[in-house]
Amino acid sequence: MALKLLLIDPSEDWLFNTKQELEKELYSVDVVSNGKEAQLALYNNKYFAVVLNVETKNHSGLQVLKFIKTNYTSQRVVMIIEKLAEDPGDEEAITPDRLVKLGATEVLVKPFELSALFTTLEGHQSLGDMVANLPRNKSDSKEEEVDLKDEKFTSVKIDEFYSTQPVLFDVFIKLKSDRYIKILHAGDSFSPERLDKYKTEKKVEMLFFQKKDLSKFIKFNNYLAGKMIENNKVQSLTKVKMIKNVAEKFMEQSFSEGLKPQIIDQGKDICENIFKLVEKQKDLHKVLRSFQEFDTSAYSHAFIVTLFTTSIIKQFEWQSKVTIETSAFACLFHDIGKMKLPAGILNKRPEDMSDDEKIEYFKHPEYGVQMIEGNNMINNSIKQIILQHHENYDGTGFPESKRGSKILTLANIVHLADEFAHIIVDKEMKPLDALKHLLSQREKLIWFNSAIVENLIKVFTDPDKIKKDFILPSNSNIIPSKKAS
Ligand SMILES: [Fe+2]
Ligand SMILES: [Fe+2]
Repeated sequence: MALKLLLIDPSEDWLFNTKQELEKELYSVDVVSNGKEAQLALYNNKYFAVVLNVETKNHSGLQVLKFIKTNYTSQRVVMIIEKLAEDPGDEEAITPDRLVKLGATEVLVKPFELSALFTTLEGHQSLGDMVANLPRNKSDSKEEEVDLKDEKFTSVKIDEFYSTQPVLFDVFIKLKSDRYIKILHAGDSFSPERLDKYKTEKKVEMLFFQKKDLSKFIKFNNYLAGKMIENNKVQSLTKVKMIKNVAEKFMEQSFSEGLKPQIIDQGKDICENIFKLVEKQKDLHKVLRSFQEFDTSAYSHAFIVTLFTTSIIKQFEWQSKVTIETSAFACLFHDIGKMKLPAGILNKRPEDMSDDEKIEYFKHPEYGVQMIEGNNMINNSIKQIILQHHENYDGTGFPESKRGSKILTLANIVHLADEFAHIIVDKEMKPLDALKHLLSQREKLIWFNSAIVENLIKVFTDPDKIKKDFILPSNSNIIPSKKAS
């Protein structure tokens, strides 16, 4: 069953064209050009979303919005403004803020590309909505060669591709640069036999899908990850790989689209799953010892730091779901400020930088905070963790050379996980070897509260073998643990 939309706009042309384009995206669309008809349509039908132009007449746009919010409180309404008011201070002016206060779910200001409307609508679809909106193709469509630029695609290992029956989006294999074969259309079913044929007969290793479908991929896989974590029969390794894929694709999406509210919501859902994994998977330490499938991308880096930060915090008595999820979220974005650095610095380690490059590099925590500032879904703890993730316990860090208890414990944990992640990737070491390497670097160990280092060690230990009366070392007093002195 397609998702139903109601478009309300005084322009018949706009209604006609937009309806046509939305139907290509598989929606079922009703159109009306005045407010009275809109109210009648709302009375007779149930809509996934209403797209309403403020300029609608004969019950005005504002009256229709009020009618909806009185009678159908949970109805999603995307309001359209023809033109922004010249004086937004004018009390009568219709501004996006005012419309949101009146109950609009989203506001778009003309002129906008129709793709902006599509993304807006898609962002509000739950997984169930997405599946409901798929066509049920009776038989699988034929393979079809297409010319599409490489930059439009993202990939996933065929072994790690999970899908609904039917698939939520088009799936491709790559022939060569800018040339792909569409092997599945959204709505086709992807039978295990067919998947196997691509793997064994055609030796396909990677499947491709378009970046515009990232949000569907992330929502679906995060949902699946949640289910997998609950399932005792699924191995730890499969769970870690699943969450890694979701987190990396999520980072890719946020780096390309910025931190929009819908993206932040998705990030929080992912952090919840990472928390669940660390909380429930009793043999996780075994996988963490030897897991090696990390690559050098910034997306992978963010995931490693998140996974180890979460695992370290879990060892502290004061840990809680909220602390872990807050820190996990900060971890995903701890280096987002690097996006503002000159390209040449991006992949360099500080020890290989010139003095000028270092000055720039030292600013990335502050840039990160600036980038998320003003987003009221991001709280102060998240900002402080990002700001302080390079402060050293001995006062030699940056940007503020904070020392000891002046540094937020959670930020110091992220800092350790960050250093640790660099050893794993730069030196291509298994985590357990990376730990030994880290412990041999006395000059670096003094950057961290030693209780945190102790707890990194415990991450790799069988939880049953950790002594209950584990005494924390003497400089642990910033940790609010009963056992710390
Ligand atoms: Fe950093
Ligand atoms: Fe980092």
